[in-house]
Amino acid sequence: MASPRVFSGIQPTADSFHLGNYLGAVRQYVAMQEGNDAFYCVVDLHAITVDYRPEALRRRSRIAAAQLFAAGLDPERSTVFVQSHVREHSELAWVLICLTGMGEAARMTQFKDKSARYGEASASVGLFTYPILQAADILLYQADAVPVGADQKQHLELTRDLAQRFNHRFGETFTLPRPHIVKEVEKITDLQDPTAKMSKSSSSPGGILDVLEQPGPLRKKVMRAVTDTGTEVLADDENKPGVTNLLRIQSALTGTPIPELEARYAGQGYGAFKKDVAEVVVETFTPIRERTEKLLADETELDRMLAVGAARARAVAAETMATVRDRVGFLPAS
Ligand code: TRP
Repeated sequence: MASPRVFSGIQPTADSFHLGNYLGAVRQYVAMQEGNDAFYCVVDLHAITVDYRPEALRRRSRIAAAQLFAAGLDPERSTVFVQSHVREHSELAWVLICLTGMGEAARMTQFKDKSARYGEASASVGLFTYPILQAADILLYQADAVPVGADQKQHLELTRDLAQRFNHRFGETFTLPRPHIVKEVEKITDLQDPTAKMSKSSSSPGGILDVLEQPGPLRKKVMRAVTDTGTEVLADDENKPGVTNLLRIQSALTGTPIPELEARYAGQGYGAFKKDVAEVVVETFTPIRERTEKLLADETELDRMLAVGAARARAVAAETMATVRDRVGFLPAS
């Protein structure tokens, strides 16, 4: 039997991934290339749904791809590519847009949040249809599992609804995908505001740990992370959100269960604990940063790796799209 198909997308909207991206997505991608037929996509079409600069997008798309390879995605095993290189994404998105109700799209909470940020009237229609493009990404590859953060649950539900609707109306065409959400890392929060998610759009620079950051600033940020009153290193979301966040980070990066960490730091206070968290973060990020820098130093080679990925992705996407074209009643283009 063929291995399960995995698909995920990650936005090239920053000059580095941060710890939340790393734990919630990138590290999962690497784990899931084992035993699966995995497709990972730098979603530049999604990145243009909000205000952006072309030069920054070009740079960030390469940086995103380089970090994926640097974090351990093996181009022999995984298909890593850039969304705009495979035209079928836009093409299927249009068909699915025509199957989506206005009300259904308007219920997407991420759109509501993001459009509120931009002012509802000036948010683009592209931002409104963003989740439908995401559905097209996933369905084109007949994905069984989609590693995503918890905030993407609603988009995955829409994807399943659209797949079912299409299959019902036009005949079995799409695999119904399921989200693969890793519980332990759902709640990595801002170091300066430990009740808010670590996020490139809302965290202050001091609140966010970037994969490509130098050891000095990484250490400083962890040492300056907001902790809570008291001195005990204990997980307690309610009363100690700052310490709890750091415990989650250390546990996720070392594989040590939180109770074991609590026992280790009993009676030691916050200082020694934070120092260790900082070291683990630096040890994790440094090799990835160094490999990323190397990959970015040779753009020709990086672009060639992405061309290989695009060719493999296109072969799958074209097959799905040929079926879709026929099923929905488009004439053969021969
Ligand atoms: N919306 C996703 C996010 O912000 C990114 C994304 C785009 C995606 N297309 C996808 C994730 C397809 C999974 C599958 O995280």
